Amino acid sequence: MKAAFFVEHGEPEVMRYGDVPDPVAGPGQVLVDVHAASVNGADWKVRAGKYAPITDVPYIPGRDFSGVVSALGDGVKEFAIGDAVFGVCDVGQEAAYAEKIAIRSAIVARKPKNLSHTECAALGLIGLTALCSVEDTLQLKAGETILIQGGAGGVASFAIQVSKHIGARVITTASAANHDYVRSLGADQIIDYQAQDFTKAVSGCDAVFDTVGGDVGMRSFTVLRPGGRAAFIASGNAAPASPRRDVVALRPKVGRDRAHLERIAALVTSGAVRVPEITLYALSQAAAAHAVSEGRHLRGKLVFKVR
Ligand SMILES: NC(=O)c1ccc[n+]([C@@H]2O[C@H](COP(=O)([O-])OP(=O)(O)OC[C@H]3O[C@@H](n4cnc5c(N)ncnc54)[C@H](OP(=O)(O)O)[C@@H]3O)[C@@H](O)[C@H]2O)c1
Repeated sequence: MKAAFFVEHGEPEVMRYGDVPDPVAGPGQVLVDVHAASVNGADWKVRAGKYAPITDVPYIPGRDFSGVVSALGDGVKEFAIGDAVFGVCDVGQEAAYAEKIAIRSAIVARKPKNLSHTECAALGLIGLTALCSVEDTLQLKAGETILIQGGAGGVASFAIQVSKHIGARVITTASAANHDYVRSLGADQIIDYQAQDFTKAVSGCDAVFDTVGGDVGMRSFTVLRPGGRAAFIASGNAAPASPRRDVVALRPKVGRDRAHLERIAALVTSGAVRVPEITLYALSQAAAAHAVSEGRHLRGKLVFKVR
């Protein structure tokens, strides 16, 4: 099969496109013919060597996909060949930038008929991350105010909409070019972080969801009311130490499970959440897609149309 992969860590140009061995469905797994796979912020970090060094080469990145079941491993009863599914790989497994992927059937969900494969591929990891962060970790409630940092990004695009669906007031940061986009997602107040210091414009928030990290994450503590809570997904595997004793800093646990995927599908098919803006690439253009992702100023999602 064809795949996008790398054999050594480095700049986006180390991404290659070519032939690799087909995966095989093991016990409890389905083999999926991938129709679309998405680019996530973690992918370029894996490629650049910011996580643990790769040991198996060629290394195929990619954490979420949508496609059609083409073979069943031993013991798989809930799917049949030909079923359309979407999913997010187990923690520690990747390889969605490919024409086929073998994955544990228990963490795959049926693709809603009214969504395309590209739309479903775009929703997997960002939807899981937004739901786990906003609902499970921050436990955002109707009437509360949340500041979402980096509103135009993939996870934040989903998180803004989920927060509005809960009934919260949403403040978000974005560069001017993305203001119409984040407004269309439901943001009540938008801060052009390049022209205005958000710490001077915002105060008394019940919650913060930081998808940017670094200094932006650390300065976000100042906008919380006493008793407020902040969740961080771009500051490593642990939340940064809070400089305030009267607020909590949380690192969401993002489980990979069918229940959350079905909840994502239900939110989108009901119209409560719409699919983020998508820019399509071919698998052979993985280097270009990584360069855009690594630039940290993309809007919505980058998706590989595989077939
Ligand atoms: N399970 C997990 O823990 C998990 C899952 C998914 C993602 N992540 C992490 O979460 C982060 C976000 O990923 P993503 O894919 O959602 O985002 P992304 O698509 O990489 O988007 C980045 C966004 O950040 C905005 N931005 C950049 N600098 C900013 C600043 N100083 N202030 C405010 N906004 C700024 C950009 O908008 P402008 O152009 O408007 O600046 C852009 O839309 C990444 O670090 C990723 O690795 C973690």
